Amino acid sequence: DWNMPDYIAEAVESIRKQVGSDEVILGLSGGVDSSVAAALIHRAIGDQLTCVFVDHGLLRLDEGKMVMEMFAQNLGVKVIHVDAAAQFMGHLAGVTDPEAKRKIIGREFVEVFQVESAKLKNAKWLAQGTIYPDVIESAGKGKNAAHTIKSHHNVGGLPETLNLQLLEPLRELFKDEVRKLGVALGLPHAMVYRHPFPGPGLGVRILGEVKKEFADLLRRADAIFIEELRNTKDDQDETWYDKTSQAFAVFLPVKSVGVMGDGRTYEYVVALRAVQTQDFMTAHWAHLPHELLGRVSNRIINEVRGINRVVYDISGKPPATIEWE
Ligand code: XMP
Repeated sequence: DWNMPDYIAEAVESIRKQVGSDEVILGLSGGVDSSVAAALIHRAIGDQLTCVFVDHGLLRLDEGKMVMEMFAQNLGVKVIHVDAAAQFMGHLAGVTDPEAKRKIIGREFVEVFQVESAKLKNAKWLAQGTIYPDVIESAGKGKNAAHTIKSHHNVGGLPETLNLQLLEPLRELFKDEVRKLGVALGLPHAMVYRHPFPGPGLGVRILGEVKKEFADLLRRADAIFIEELRNTKDDQDETWYDKTSQAFAVFLPVKSVGVMGDGRTYEYVVALRAVQTQDFMTAHWAHLPHELLGRVSNRIINEVRGINRVVYDISGKPPATIEWE
């Protein structure tokens, strides 16, 4: 168990020693691990670090804005913000198979990241937010597995032709230690204690073909759900966001009939998913208060034109997975 100020001082020292005057690039996803790695490496080497943030058009509402505010504005980190939404949507057009969608998103991500990092000609290091459980997990998968780029960081398969050495300053830390480190480095508590978000993003939460129109509707519905979870406490004064391990909205590309005022509507359906779990291998659906569910449903239907029905997913894992695809 580390004393954080001491840990930071030691880690900073060791990063400086390792990279010297070299330049480092890091794929910033907005997730906890890459964010904490960025903050730590920036503390150590400042402007020698450049982060690349790839927006594939399948991120949560205002995610890009949030990342730029937190890192570029507040911390003064160099961040290249790549808007690749059109490229991703183009490649996803007409594709409905979940695994095919994942593959395309992963492949395009690598493509974009490679193009951007090739522009940083002096970079010698690729930094990653690999944490101890990732090291253990990949140890069983071949002798160099721990040194390959972890797939759920979305840079899976980043070709070795990039010719960069790996810098992984969180390799010895467990998730809870990474979070403490993040807070000690000045990252907001709410950011560091966020639910996990999958690399393929809304791509696996829009069933079937991914379209920008669907992603835009889903983003707004999801933001309402998360906002209500953050604003609603149980009788122990804990928010429902903190009481759940992961919560999100899912877009169902089916239309159902509704009434609005004195008119008939025929619009899409959103499913809400909220689970409680220790390890994400098994999970229970969260028993959210009915009032909370009712409020979320009303708000989504009133505020997001194009959605006229909201349902709640009451499936455990197994047999259902947490994501719908
Ligand atoms: P499932 O749906 O398999 O999800 O029960 C378990 C956990 O893994 C996350 N997940 C992913 N994360 N890339 C990721 O980075 C993926 O392709 C992916 N699929 C699922 C999911 O959000 C949950 O936390």
